[in-house]
Amino acid sequence: VRGLLSVGDLDVATTEELFRLSDAFVEVSARPIPKVPALRGRTVVSVFFEDSTRTRMSFETAARRLSADVMNFAVGTSSLNKGESVRDTIETIEAMGIDAIVVRHRNAGVPHQVAEWSDAVVVNAGDGAHEHPTQALLDAFTLRRRFGRIDGLRVAIVGDVRHSRVARSNVFLLTELGARVTLVAPRTLLPASLEGWPVDVTSDLDAVVGEVDVVYLLRMQRERMGQHFVPSLREYTQRFGLTVERATRLAPDAVVMHPGPMNRGIEIAGEVAEGDHSLVVEQVRHGVAVRMAVLWWLLGSGTDRVPTVSDDGSDVPPGDVGDEEVGR
Ligand code: NCD
Repeated sequence: VRGLLSVGDLDVATTEELFRLSDAFVEVSARPIPKVPALRGRTVVSVFFEDSTRTRMSFETAARRLSADVMNFAVGTSSLNKGESVRDTIETIEAMGIDAIVVRHRNAGVPHQVAEWSDAVVVNAGDGAHEHPTQALLDAFTLRRRFGRIDGLRVAIVGDVRHSRVARSNVFLLTELGARVTLVAPRTLLPASLEGWPVDVTSDLDAVVGEVDVVYLLRMQRERMGQHFVPSLREYTQRFGLTVERATRLAPDAVVMHPGPMNRGIEIAGEVAEGDHSLVVEQVRHGVAVRMAVLWWLLGSGTDRVPTVSDDGSDVPPGDVGDEEVGR
């Protein structure tokens, strides 16, 4: 299976290589014309069976900045509403001739199935409460840009871990890169079993908020809660929210992160999301560069050389990423 389905697909060396590529694509993204011809002639299709704005736009922007053709399969208007199965949908899309499928689904495991059905490269853009590997990559990359390292960072991941693919992917990637992760949540919002999770666990945010380098807030996933997991959102905020008052106890260099979309006033105060500690905007910006790196890694000629193809489509010798620009 070719693709990025899980952070388990990434060893440390590959992750470092993706970070190196991402650095280069941050630079490309800052140019007046933020585009390189690296994936010209390739087609990337995003197939989102579950709502998303930022992740879908981030992938599509990344693909366009690499000059790939981009298709978008809008589930709301598709034949899925007429009862077409996921498999038929994927086979139909594939028959159109595509190179990569970026897939999101509310059920865990669907991207793995798609990868079995399809010859295209598959990128998991979030499957149920399972994994969201590019989110974890962009979060780790954002930390690496801020702190210059991940090894030794103390990270608190706070809130609805139970329903969070972001938490799961982040725990495994960050710890593999040497961070120390503490989950902070009420018992009801932890997974049923944490066996094999290399983490500490506490339900006392006040005990850790001044001790960590990173406070990573998770969204309360109300759409995935079939039953009540907390007595009330107000009480949740009192104990687990990063309120303005709590944020005053952050270490001076500590950072605050959130994958979005944020429930302002619940897991994070609006003032904190916009405050000096917040990396929320950097996360979104870096998301595009990291997804460019992933698409290039999967569809280009690998991480051993830089993603540059000359305007006439012929290979150019390795240099810096996107030594040249192309028009839109
Ligand atoms: C996350 C997701 O969908 O898993 N958001 C995202 O990718 N932008 C987190 C969330 O929905 O809470």
